[in-house]
Amino acid sequence: MAELIWKPGTTYDDWLVLPGRIKKDVTVDNISLKTPLTKYNSSDSQEVPAENLPEDVFVINSPLLSAPMQSVTGAEMAIELAKQGCLGVIFCSQPINKEAGIVRQVKGYKAAFVVPDVFSPETIIEEVIKAAEEKGYSTFPITDNGKPNGRIVGLLTKNDYSEKHRQLKACDRMIPMNRIIYARYEKVGEDIRKANAILENSHHGSIPIVDKHGHLKFMVFKKDIREHRSYPLELVDNQKRYVVGAAVNTYDYRKRVPALAEAGADILFVDASQGYSDYQEAALKHILKNFPGIPVIGGNVATKEGFDFLVQNGAHGVKIGMGPGSICTTREKYRIGRPQATAVIEINQRRHEYLAETGIYVPIIADGGIVTNDHFFIAFALGADSVMGGRFFARFHESPTETTELKETYEGRVYVASVKPYWGEGSERAKIWRRKRYDQAEESEGIEGYVPYAGYVKDNLPSAVRHIKTSMQKNGYFNIRDVHAHVRLQRESASTIKEGMPHDIFVERMWRPYRSG
Ligand code: IMP
Repeated sequence: MAELIWKPGTTYDDWLVLPGRIKKDVTVDNISLKTPLTKYNSSDSQEVPAENLPEDVFVINSPLLSAPMQSVTGAEMAIELAKQGCLGVIFCSQPINKEAGIVRQVKGYKAAFVVPDVFSPETIIEEVIKAAEEKGYSTFPITDNGKPNGRIVGLLTKNDYSEKHRQLKACDRMIPMNRIIYARYEKVGEDIRKANAILENSHHGSIPIVDKHGHLKFMVFKKDIREHRSYPLELVDNQKRYVVGAAVNTYDYRKRVPALAEAGADILFVDASQGYSDYQEAALKHILKNFPGIPVIGGNVATKEGFDFLVQNGAHGVKIGMGPGSICTTREKYRIGRPQATAVIEINQRRHEYLAETGIYVPIIADGGIVTNDHFFIAFALGADSVMGGRFFARFHESPTETTELKETYEGRVYVASVKPYWGEGSERAKIWRRKRYDQAEESEGIEGYVPYAGYVKDNLPSAVRHIKTSMQKNGYFNIRDVHAHVRLQRESASTIKEGMPHDIFVERMWRPYRSG
């Protein structure tokens, strides 16, 4: 017989956090948002603050992840998010070599240590000018064989060539090695502080790092070091490369995972709209058996049974979300899914039971449905360890789509908005890849639309993060563990939501009622 749940499900807007005690030693500036993505053993069966976790736990410095979607996460987004301590997850709805190429691009963009484009001494300057125009930078080392790890013989900077040198060779204009300040790899390794000490004394904008045979290893640029210093939360691996996640579907993982592992993906996400499935089980088992060194997040699920299933199949973390996505039509079309807050609440409860039974803490990621900055805090309060978003990130300059203008005429006036396209992985636009995420589904489960262009990640994300920290500061929570341990929430009703917003006043003009957000 059908099991009926009569209590309606809830969304983030249905919950309000009760005020806790403000503590003078917990300020917006010292709150930590570090959070784990992978499971760990807890000796006393309690959640451990992320600051105290052992090194083998996959921890991110800021708890936001960008969704593996064509219109959300490419290399540029992943790099910008890693700078902010967050994690970008590259989409798998593209050929394997393309996804692996993006992962490689992120891993190659080392914080301050750059594997440069090089030329040979015989290269005609015309080619160098062309490369400078295409790439947007103008310093190129010259190596004897024109390969990145060749013996460095000179350097071309923007002061050394111009239009009138077009027909000359690189060796005619380069600064020869005896006039270049360089650093030995054996001395500085990949230590930014050491490289910078040499760079600062050199008066130059960059220095080559060479091995004991004179072969080029890296270039270090002053501007990168300056930038690096302005990102104290940077998420880097033990070789100082940016950390990046990659999605795999439940279809071609046998071929995709080896390519992603080889490219350097730090963590994998099995990307399925319904993760409680035979396909997911097979994918998880295969990846865990053949790539035991890479953590794997399973998903998506929305019930405690789904959580148990993923954990029993070895997932290191669990992603929650069936139907809350801004572009999602699964719930509307097939009547399957779950209100997101309810899904997080139930899985959080089950996760704590599991912790008490086994001493293992399994982090949960709340995926989809974030509309306003306050939703992040509610997701953490309900039990999420981190939050994934699509729409939220698609608005930023670094998402892989072009910004366009939408024009609309309303009551005789023309309104123009800068927008970026945003579409679901299950939409018509994602086409042939849809089947791979939605298993057997032939019909679309997502729509295609636009989101308002919001500018650069670096100009937006810090204020969203500060918003989360302000909510925490108001309750004296130093970290996400404190939120989980001490928060109390109250269910809202339609009338309490109304009471909680400015109401019954006019704003600016009599005829323009106040609207939230
Ligand atoms: P958003 O942050 O509300 O825009 O939701 C993003 C999330 O929606 C993604 O991380 C996916 O879990 C999910 N999603 C992506 N594409 C589709 C789709 O086409 N249909 C349904 N859900 C989708």
